[in-house]
Amino acid sequence: MTELPNSTAARDIASLIHPYTNLDRHQTSGPFVIRRGEGCYVEDDNGKRYLEGMAGLWSASLGFSEPRLVAAAARQMQQLPYSHLFNHRSFDPAIDLAEKLLGLAPAGLSKVLFANSGSEANDQAIKLIWYYHNAIGRPEKKKLIGRVRGYHGVTVASASLTGLPANHTDFDLPIAGVFHADCPSYYHYAEPGETEAAFVERMAANLEALIEREGPDTIAAFFAEPVQGAGGVIVPPRGYFERVQEILKRHEILFVVDEVITGFGRTGNLFACETYGLKPDLMNVAKALSASYLPISATLVSDKIHDAMLAESRKIGTFGHGFTYSGHPVSAAVALEALTIYEERDIVGHVRRMAPHFQARLRALADHPLIGEARGVGLIGALEVVRDKATKASFDAALGVPAAIQTAVIEEGVILRAIRDAVAICPPLIITDAEIEILFDALQRGLDKVLAGQRIDA
Ligand SMILES: Cc1ncc(COP(=O)(O)O)c(C=O)c1O
Repeated sequence: MTELPNSTAARDIASLIHPYTNLDRHQTSGPFVIRRGEGCYVEDDNGKRYLEGMAGLWSASLGFSEPRLVAAAARQMQQLPYSHLFNHRSFDPAIDLAEKLLGLAPAGLSKVLFANSGSEANDQAIKLIWYYHNAIGRPEKKKLIGRVRGYHGVTVASASLTGLPANHTDFDLPIAGVFHADCPSYYHYAEPGETEAAFVERMAANLEALIEREGPDTIAAFFAEPVQGAGGVIVPPRGYFERVQEILKRHEILFVVDEVITGFGRTGNLFACETYGLKPDLMNVAKALSASYLPISATLVSDKIHDAMLAESRKIGTFGHGFTYSGHPVSAAVALEALTIYEERDIVGHVRRMAPHFQARLRALADHPLIGEARGVGLIGALEVVRDKATKASFDAALGVPAAIQTAVIEEGVILRAIRDAVAICPPLIITDAEIEILFDALQRGLDKVLAGQRIDA
């Protein structure tokens, strides 16, 4: 990289630490700078436009130029730019948003606790679960189960639940008392000749064995994303969640559904709880809650959790938890407007109309020589990159083939994300049929380019 010392790239390298980046490589590669957005497109600092096939981080559901969200933020900024919810204080946007969320949420969830990120939502869910078990006189029931390839965030506790090596290695995580059940990817983990039904039974038996080994009386909760996103877009096999929920219920283990990616339409229903028949005790949402225009997340809890919170705060004298920005009025106003837009524009109906086209183009790529599996649901999907379709063997990691595909597709004008051996696709929910064509045409060209060997060395 030859850049002037006052260039954007040089200033970035001199000053910024980038999340989820090879920090050493960044010193020479420099940043990919995005300057503006419009609809499903973003534009870099050279004026080149890209279709944002990842909606940022699975999150910018309404694209990058929704004027109503901007207006909602400006209105609230002018009226009351900041207040808080501590010590009985309140304000309309937080109340309105909580009411709206509860009106949309799966049955049984009856109160809302706001936070600012998906990680914080999961983190505070853990605290509520511990609080709950102390309140009901079961203080020994505190262990937590996440899953291999699960992603729940990066705070100390939520990163512990996350089941990805990069989030643990040399961070001295996971913390004690956190365990990881199997990842339910039939493609990756089925044994030779094993049917999907037998695979689900094995997943269930392994979960049951983990619970028995640790002691059911010591296990508080099981956290799961309906579709594992950052783990590679792992769609659950048929019947998996029925079996899991039956086991959790039998052992009185709380079920926490992490809808941070799937919430607000992604899978073709407002919540993936509906898509997969999930009955959560707690549910976490973020990302599309505000279309990602401002940070906000929420933990929704059932009456039984809330009753325990009442009892504990009566005993202790307060509920000793909350962030300066819990339910921030500007974030809440933007989120409320996002939910209103979802309803008025029937975003779920739009996802249902686009999904067959999206999934058909995705699945057609399973025939590509580099692709072992195409998987997805609604407007989320992934392609598994393989060296050998029959054995499912992946390329030597040092070759960086998924990253080369990501680079090639970006050159073709579409932003996608390489995750392990997969290429993930998760566009804004407002994507049109014409944009789906543009996205998959670019992906096809990028795959062909890499196959032709032009970019295997990238
Ligand atoms: C399912 C899931 N949970 C939690 C998180 C963490 O959210 P945040 O990055 O806002 O802390 C993410 C982020 O991608 C996620 O995908």
